[in-house]
Amino acid sequence: MKSDLSGKVVIITGASSGIGAALARALSAAGCRLTLAARSLDKLRGLAEELPGETLVVRADMLQRADIEAMAARTLERFGAINVLCANAGVFIQGDFADYDMDAVSDMLRINVEGVLRCAHVVIPYMRAQASGDILITSSIAGHAELHRGPAYGATKHAIETIVNTLRRQLAGAGIRVMSLAPGKVANELWGYADAAEIERLSVVEGGWLRSEDVAAAGLFMLSRPRHVTVRTVVMVPRYQEA
Ligand SMILES: NC(=O)c1ccc[n+]([C@@H]2O[C@H](COP(=O)([O-])OP(=O)(O)OC[C@H]3O[C@@H](n4cnc5c(N)ncnc54)[C@H](OP(=O)(O)O)[C@@H]3O)[C@@H](O)[C@H]2O)c1
Repeated sequence: MKSDLSGKVVIITGASSGIGAALARALSAAGCRLTLAARSLDKLRGLAEELPGETLVVRADMLQRADIEAMAARTLERFGAINVLCANAGVFIQGDFADYDMDAVSDMLRINVEGVLRCAHVVIPYMRAQASGDILITSSIAGHAELHRGPAYGATKHAIETIVNTLRRQLAGAGIRVMSLAPGKVANELWGYADAAEIERLSVVEGGWLRSEDVAAAGLFMLSRPRHVTVRTVVMVPRYQEA
């Protein structure tokens, strides 16, 4: 038995590019109604135009509490429910820690951790009232391995794994599943890759990278399991990634 995603209302943060946009394509094709959230309205609108299903475009900065609250409120106003939260927005800093811009690090901690917590906090009351819901958080291999080039980024993704595995148990009785999707290197805008042919070469041909749609396919698998099944986390890496 497969659970049917058709008609489900899904909020996707960080939907303007990369994994978030790929999740939007996969979930829209599966019949979901989507709230597409990020700061880049033009990109969100362009994506919405190409999707087959109903969409709501919302400008939401994960550093702004009011934006996160408005994102949930506008979703409810438009669709009358919130079935799934894909808390995917995130930023990445790596390199020598001594060279880090600590203000940028502070923003990363707030976007990657506080933003995710606030998104979850704002949707949980509605999911509780429905006695059903899914929270899928985009984590990283950096939440499962200590990658030495990213001490601060890795800290945010280890925090995500803790959040997932504690919230999951707090919310299981309310019918809410909490899961994490933890990819290795994904060739997309986060690394400056936007050219489809180059992404195809790096991933499919050379095996050194994943594509955003590979990650989205795993997310679709997790969300489409029957309700008694929680896929706690999926860790996926390109064939030649060492971690
Ligand atoms: N690419 C990888 O190799 C990789 C590997 C493992 C995990 N991840 C994780 O995957 C998630 C998605 O990243 P991606 O790979 O798809 O990279 P991406 O293409 O750079 O996407 C990042 C998304 O986050 C949004 N975002 C950034 N800052 C934001 C803010 N302050 N408020 C709201 N949205 C914000 C961006 O939208 P706007 O700029 O329009 O706001 C964009 O939609 C992140 O959590 C990342 O840590 C990525």
